[in-house]
Amino acid sequence: MVTLPPDLLAEKYFKMHPDELDPIWGNPCDDIRHKRIWSGNKTCDSFPQFLVIGPQKTGTTALYTFLTMHPAISSNKPSPETFEEVQFFNGKNYYRGLDWYMKFFATENATLTNQTTNNNVENSRKAVLFEKSATYFDNELVPRRAHTLLPRAKIVTILISPAKRAYSWYQHMRAHNDPVAVNFTFFEVLTASNTSPRSLRELRNRCLIPGRYAQHLERWLSYYPSQQLLILDGEELRNDPVSVMNRFQHFLQITPAYDYSDKLRYDRTKGFYCQIISQNKNKCLGRSKGRHYPSMDPKAAKYLQTYYSTHNNALVKLLKRLEQPIPEWLKEDLSSS
Ligand code: A3P
Repeated sequence: MVTLPPDLLAEKYFKMHPDELDPIWGNPCDDIRHKRIWSGNKTCDSFPQFLVIGPQKTGTTALYTFLTMHPAISSNKPSPETFEEVQFFNGKNYYRGLDWYMKFFATENATLTNQTTNNNVENSRKAVLFEKSATYFDNELVPRRAHTLLPRAKIVTILISPAKRAYSWYQHMRAHNDPVAVNFTFFEVLTASNTSPRSLRELRNRCLIPGRYAQHLERWLSYYPSQQLLILDGEELRNDPVSVMNRFQHFLQITPAYDYSDKLRYDRTKGFYCQIISQNKNKCLGRSKGRHYPSMDPKAAKYLQTYYSTHNNALVKLLKRLEQPIPEWLKEDLSSS
């Protein structure tokens, strides 16, 4: 038999299988051979049980905040770079590997139990772990990567009118003094052509592409069964968060359900539901969530109605197939187009 030193062998192997150059992390706990060679101080329960995947600007921070109030639910530890979001399955963090990801979910409790006795680690953790990274929703690579590592995870998405979402993103970029958003009107951004400067095209794409909801959901559904997918209405989350949180807990099968009705109330100054701190005090999300900005220019609104019409129709079909309710905003977006 002819062989080569490991580095040359690897080079030869990847020349023959270039499609395998990009790593894909599976769960070591699902494979007895991996589990056997895995370090003794690692646990199989340091992975999230559900992912809130976004998209951005649909109310993901509000949902994240309400979830972290729940005594039986725990989020990841904050990231120094991306704050509450880990953003593992998209971008460069994926190449940092599993240990990097798992550190965000490590608890003292789980480590201690695992050191003392190597069995029954599942019982050592009380909390249901989750992470919210709003960039996961529309990234082409994420569903496959997430499914390979977390095939049993539940997937949660929040949808609002895609036109509203696009405008909220534009306003978000303006508030961050993004030169393109500051120098171009929303309509100019939306209608940028493929010969426009790159930065303008990039902003146009970030405004428009995540809102093609059906397309992105179909990608998730090609990996995850529909029973594992929860689609929340972002308008309902904004106007009636208690009902949404009840439905969420039912989906997660968390009993007894945590009663949000005496934990959240509408704050008139903020114009949104906030966490009750005391009789007269609420804790609301920061200024960057629930911004005040002028209403959308009718020209841009008309453009978006046409742009999203096919995508919204596909979403109606998809929701019907999944036997899910059709949100009011979707009916309105379609009736005015
Ligand atoms: P605007 O700032 O454009 O109004 P995300 O957290 O995904 O970035 O979404 C931000 C959006 O969440 C806000 O967009 C706001 O409309 C919406 N939202 C829903 N519920 C909220 C709440 N309780 N407090 C603040 N914003 C909320």
